[in-house]
Amino acid sequence: MSLKEKIDPTKMPKHIAIIMDGNGRWAKGKGKFRIFGHQTGVSTVKTITEACAEIGVKYLTLYAFSTENWNRPALEVRALMELLVDTMRKELPTLMKNNIRLSFIGNHSDLPAKCQKQLALTMEETKNNTRMDLVLALSYSAKWDLVQAIQKISADTLAGKLKPEEINDTLIDSYLSTHWMPHPELMIRTSGEKRISNFLLWEIAYSELYFTEKLWPDFTKEDLYHAIFDFQNRERRFGKTSEQLSS
Ligand code: IPE
Ligand code: IPE
Ligand code: MG
Repeated sequence: MSLKEKIDPTKMPKHIAIIMDGNGRWAKGKGKFRIFGHQTGVSTVKTITEACAEIGVKYLTLYAFSTENWNRPALEVRALMELLVDTMRKELPTLMKNNIRLSFIGNHSDLPAKCQKQLALTMEETKNNTRMDLVLALSYSAKWDLVQAIQKISADTLAGKLKPEEINDTLIDSYLSTHWMPHPELMIRTSGEKRISNFLLWEIAYSELYFTEKLWPDFTKEDLYHAIFDFQNRERRFGKTSEQLSS
């Protein structure tokens, strides 16, 4: 039985979030420039997006560029933005063919105009697609999202639209840029780093975390199935005891 067949379709995570890490090290290991790693990483994005859609994942959020990544050398930042625009343009027909809707979370105004334009265009073109939501986190950080949510909550409270006692877990959810999707049940990080790097801090409160040594350009469909299989064999207790869950 293949690993794919071992996956239980009734226990599929609805939402998988991935910290795609290790492009630079992958390229360096081959004696190439970092950007070559990013280019190869795009192929992995295509493979994993297709695999997720095939097995019935409904939301796939990919951490593509963090707020902190603006501090990288200007040349790498520019190359990444160009790669992004290029990929969105080239992959539009595939998104349409596979019935995948592209969305975005992050600080839109920080992105170069060309990138904002291509993003808006791709989102508009794919907006009626229904098989899976592919969400790109771009110029995103969880702290940025929390700050903008708190600013809006404060403004609405001052304007009398909200009472302080109405601020609860659900209300905070509704002000985050991720308000329209369920929280990820599974978060994967490649490249062996065991940290969250400012990704979805609020939303992963109860996510299962999966770390793999594989560098992103080397991450395959089999690796994804492995992560899902591992997830399906964990006991998610949400504070309860094992005995409570089985009774
Ligand atoms: C992840 O790969 C892609 C981005 C952060 C844009 P890295 O570029 O972080 O690769 P490493 O971690 O340096 O190997
Ligand atoms: C996290 O990767 C951000 C993305 C994958 C886009 P980094 O490689 O930037 O993370 P740190 O800074 O090493 O934690
Ligand atoms: Mg990295």
